[in-house]
Amino acid sequence: MTAVAEHPTTHAPDEPARPEGTGGTHRATEDRHREYDGRHPAPTGPEGLSVWATAQSTGPVQRRGRYVAESVKHPARMLPAIAAHAVAAYTNPGDLVLDPMCGIGTTLVEAIHAGRDAIGVEYESRWSDIADANIAHAQRQGATGRGAVMRGDATRILSLVPAALAGQVALVVTSPPYGPTVHGLVRPGADGVAKFDNAYNDGTDRGNLAYRDLTGLADGFAQILAGCHTLLRPGGIVVVTARPWRKHGQLVDLPSAVIGAGIRAGLTPVDRCVALLAAVRDGHLVARPSFFQLQQVRRARTAGTPMHLIAHEDVLVFAKTQKPDPLGAADD
Ligand SMILES: C[S@@+](CC[C@H](N)C(=O)[O-])C[C@H]1O[C@@H](n2cnc3c(N)ncnc32)[C@H](O)[C@@H]1O
Repeated sequence: MTAVAEHPTTHAPDEPARPEGTGGTHRATEDRHREYDGRHPAPTGPEGLSVWATAQSTGPVQRRGRYVAESVKHPARMLPAIAAHAVAAYTNPGDLVLDPMCGIGTTLVEAIHAGRDAIGVEYESRWSDIADANIAHAQRQGATGRGAVMRGDATRILSLVPAALAGQVALVVTSPPYGPTVHGLVRPGADGVAKFDNAYNDGTDRGNLAYRDLTGLADGFAQILAGCHTLLRPGGIVVVTARPWRKHGQLVDLPSAVIGAGIRAGLTPVDRCVALLAAVRDGHLVARPSFFQLQQVRRARTAGTPMHLIAHEDVLVFAKTQKPDPLGAADD
């Protein structure tokens, strides 16, 4: 399979969509390469493959009419097809889905459209308000599941959600923030390009994990996953997506940090998949890079550093298969 770059757009794409993974109640559809337009089940790859063909259409196409317009302001949304895929792969109608860092509520919207119930936590009221609006919008469009969003710090998730939810969650789908400034949007101007909508908050509140270094992010994420462990039912699944991330041109191993955080939280890693950020078209990969990604790779290559354009995300899958190993005990 060869790779070609689609014409770059001035808008960063959403994060990639995830196709059906493995395990759980995985389902395959016959229409595997249909464009995902937000009104149909997520596209799926061949059942059981660890490479998920999840960006057959762009983020804006997936979100059109299904999400409120303000959603675009969030700097690092998940592609709807990713969340829809995970929900379809690992849950049944009526199950409870949780996203402890829900942003504008992509996981929740896709879950309630699929007849699951969903609960989310988000640190920034700006994004939790939009998540609320997206849930209401989905319900007006006929979503049958129930959805609720709480604003708060998910490192203390057990003090935020009702105690009765312990042991009830079938699936956690989430994506940690990384770096204070991420994808965002660009607008051409006289002096080049202006970047906007590329930050979670004004950067002064360190409670948002986006503003911590990798160790701080991993520690906070481990705390969040430990809370999720308590909320998961036995056999419950956690799906974490992490895009390769470079800082000052150097690769940061976020996926390994996520795996470590999951293990410290008492979860068992059961799968590591790749979600394509490129469409599969007639035997070619058609990349959908953001402006920033293209710029970074071109600069690196010009400077003599061989660098590939990122066309995938890591998907780390965990299961609740054992008793929790309380955080700190392992450190001791
Ligand atoms: C990668 S984004 C998730 C986007 C989401 N999947 C969506 O589609 O909108 C990570 C989110 O985690 C939130 N966050 C950061 N620290 C948090 C914390 N301690 N508790 C809860 N949410 C947090 C950020 O504000 C951000 O919205």
